[in-house]
Amino acid sequence: MHTNRRGFLRSAAVAGAAASVASRALGANDRLVVGVMGVHGRGTQLARVFAGLKSSAVACVCDVDSRNMSAAAAAVTEVQVYKPEEVGDVRRILENKVVDALVIAAPNHWHGPATILACKAGKHVYVEKPCCHNPREGELMVAAARAHGRVVQMGTQRRSWPAVIEAMEAVRGGAIGRAFFSRGRYTNVRGSIGRGKEAPVPGWLDYELWQGPAPRRPYTDNRIHYNWHWFWHWGNGELGNNGVHALDLCRWGLGVEYPVRVTSSGGRYLHDDDQETPDTHEVMFEFADRKAIAWEGLSCNQNWLGAKGWIASFYGDKGALALWEGAYTIFDRNDKIVKEAKGPGGDELHIRNFVDCARAGGRPNADIEEGHKSTLLPHLGNIAHRVGRALRCDPASGRILGDEEAMALWGREYAPGWEPTV
Ligand SMILES: NC(=O)c1ccc[n+]([C@@H]2O[C@H](COP(=O)([O-])OP(=O)(O)OC[C@H]3O[C@@H](n4cnc5c(N)ncnc54)[C@H](O)[C@@H]3O)[C@@H](O)[C@H]2O)c1
Repeated sequence: MHTNRRGFLRSAAVAGAAASVASRALGANDRLVVGVMGVHGRGTQLARVFAGLKSSAVACVCDVDSRNMSAAAAAVTEVQVYKPEEVGDVRRILENKVVDALVIAAPNHWHGPATILACKAGKHVYVEKPCCHNPREGELMVAAARAHGRVVQMGTQRRSWPAVIEAMEAVRGGAIGRAFFSRGRYTNVRGSIGRGKEAPVPGWLDYELWQGPAPRRPYTDNRIHYNWHWFWHWGNGELGNNGVHALDLCRWGLGVEYPVRVTSSGGRYLHDDDQETPDTHEVMFEFADRKAIAWEGLSCNQNWLGAKGWIASFYGDKGALALWEGAYTIFDRNDKIVKEAKGPGGDELHIRNFVDCARAGGRPNADIEEGHKSTLLPHLGNIAHRVGRALRCDPASGRILGDEEAMALWGREYAPGWEPTV
């Protein structure tokens, strides 16, 4: 692995930029050098975007699945000249002085601890959504970003889509009058994951490091990859997986921060298998100033029934706004279309925004403080579901009031040595 920034940039065939990057302080014209942690589907997509920008380069890819790591290195090489180093342990990336930023697309239980370690090591962080596995980690991530002066952006890419920004400005600026209600939703047709059995750890997997901060569990053959989403020990269900995208928009448009009351209904209604998280979920978040957000998640049925595919909608006293992927429509009170607009989507705009902020300073579009507030909504919905009752929350912090059992789910136990500290 290159431990010298100039050497990396030379071999990355970007020597033109190297003259100005002899020191660790990045300037607005320097290339941001990243390492990408977790390069299955998502991490490889992100790595290819970072590799394709003139303002960034990928020095290393990191995975505990050796097959995914070499496939990702090859996929990045299709986009940039330099073949990224393959690094099995993320801590080796954090020690590498060449690297300016860590991109995290490992499973959710890694997001908080890896972000905090990276901030402490002086790296900026692009962390996938949900930004953390539990609310306490979100609080610590904000503290770590501020304490170490790092740019930390959550991967809610719609925050950087022009038509979405315009729609949110319209809602907040009164285009539908006083906006008081928003609804987010997500649907899919997911199958069963069956019943897993304990099995020997496959040769391609470093299961010890896959578990990392999470207390140890035996290897079971139906959880890796992806299906960990449906177990509380590592994941956050559909609400934390896809719900956070919509809830981030609902919260942004309504201009609300922490709820005062959260209720959850639903369960596992379709497949009789190992999954713990709801496949059918209705969650309501009420805010102090007479506003509310509702979320509907149907993981096992995708019939739209005429609802035309919006992911978030907003209701005011003068009309409504529906948000599609990168497009929106404003309706008056009689359902007459007042305005329609659309714009580009994808990941590049959001990654560009992160790179620009890391190089030149400034808060990114999905700064970790906003990321924490938006990720807290799924966490609270899941906690309400797990304790089976409504939660009352402090409008200044989102912390749960008068319910010790619920508040016990605010944080988690860690494997020895992995407790995050700012
Ligand atoms: N923003 C988006 O639209 C979007 C889309 C898809 C996924 N995501 C997020 O990206 C993350 C990854 O999703 P996925 O579908 O690729 O999951 P996945 O389980 O398919 O892949 C995760 C990868 O991380 C690796 N990994 C686990 N522990 C690691 C460690 N210690 N070091 C390095 N690599 C490690 C795994 O081996 C695997 O290759 C999730 O948090 C998910 O919510 C975001």
